[in-house]
Amino acid sequence: MRAVGLYRYLPIEDPESLVDVEVPKPEARGRDLLVRVRAVSVNPVDTKVRAPKEQVEVQPRILGWDAAGVVEAVGEAVSLFSPGDEVYYAGSNVRPGCDSEYHLVDERIVGRKPRNLSFEEAAAMPLTTLTAWEVLFDRMVVPRAGEGPARSVLSVLIIGGAGGVGSIAVQIARQVAGLRVLATASRGESAEWCRSLGADEIIDHRQPFAEQFQRLGEPLVDYILCFNSTEQHVQNMADVIKPQGKIGCIVGAKGNQPIPINVFMRKSVAFCWELMFTRPDFQTPDMQAQHEILNAAADLYENGTLRSTMRESLGPLNAETLRRAHARIESGRTIGKLVLAGI
Ligand SMILES: NC(=O)c1ccc[n+]([C@@H]2O[C@H](COP(=O)([O-])OP(=O)(O)OC[C@H]3O[C@@H](n4cnc5c(N)ncnc54)[C@H](OP(=O)(O)O)[C@@H]3O)[C@@H](O)[C@H]2O)c1
Repeated sequence: MRAVGLYRYLPIEDPESLVDVEVPKPEARGRDLLVRVRAVSVNPVDTKVRAPKEQVEVQPRILGWDAAGVVEAVGEAVSLFSPGDEVYYAGSNVRPGCDSEYHLVDERIVGRKPRNLSFEEAAAMPLTTLTAWEVLFDRMVVPRAGEGPARSVLSVLIIGGAGGVGSIAVQIARQVAGLRVLATASRGESAEWCRSLGADEIIDHRQPFAEQFQRLGEPLVDYILCFNSTEQHVQNMADVIKPQGKIGCIVGAKGNQPIPINVFMRKSVAFCWELMFTRPDFQTPDMQAQHEILNAAADLYENGTLRSTMRESLGPLNAETLRRAHARIESGRTIGKLVLAGI
């Protein structure tokens, strides 16, 4: 089957950084689905895995952890899906990625594709939806709308509101959790995008947060979601979180530098990590939660509560289009999601 992969870890400008390859078509066993991939999207994890280093692969390494497609065949232990089902999923980063014609994925981390979304619109969503949903509801245990105090009482600040994760988190925080949403954006275009998704207020992540809160007359927030440059925002977060608030963080500090979480002690702030790959990578007993989250989100896409954050399709997947997508992600300025149609 056709795929796009790498043998060497090179800067994205190098034509050898991602190459078109032929690899054997895999076979579904156990709880795996064999999916005919119809569209993929690109995330910063792809560019982080591809980052230049000395290592050389004997077999091509295939990246890509966001797909939508059609189940072609199922393993003998599969019970949730059948051939012909349309699905969307992120997958596991300890297995080959989905930048290929066919792909194997464990059924427990796969959802049914929302019927009202195209394959490209659906491929934009799984990894970011899982991340935003898990951090809010599984890690920070934020109440859903109607479960806790009224919406006007609880608020969240989303750092990196226009990025892939921020774009769906703004919607989930507002529509599912019923929170007042403040988002950060540094440009007119990204600020406008956040507002169109439901953000109530925008602040600039290039300026100190506390001063902007004061200028806007914003009270301190109950929750913060840190989706970008954690090391840069530690003091910002300490300044604007409420006493006894909670912070959900998805990005480790650059260069593995320590994060000085002492700054949160005086306010007794809870600091929670979220890694979307934890469940699939460790095969945790509750890994099927990802199947349930993606199905719950499919209902919300279908009834119009949530919308796809796809902004652009770069055409059919091949080494050239994928290199373009990686270069765009590496710029750190993409808004919403970039997708590619299947090979
Ligand atoms: N732990 C997990 O499970 C998990 C899952 C998904 C992603 N991640 C990680 O989360 C990060 C964000 O992912 P993503 O897909 O949302 O990225 P993305 O789409 O590439 O984010 C782009 C956005 O980041 C904003 N941004 C740039 N510099 C910023 C800064 N210093 N502070 C705040 N925002 C800034 C930009 O806004 P402006 O243009 O307005 O400046 C831009 O819209 C990545 O590091 C990714 O690897 C982790």
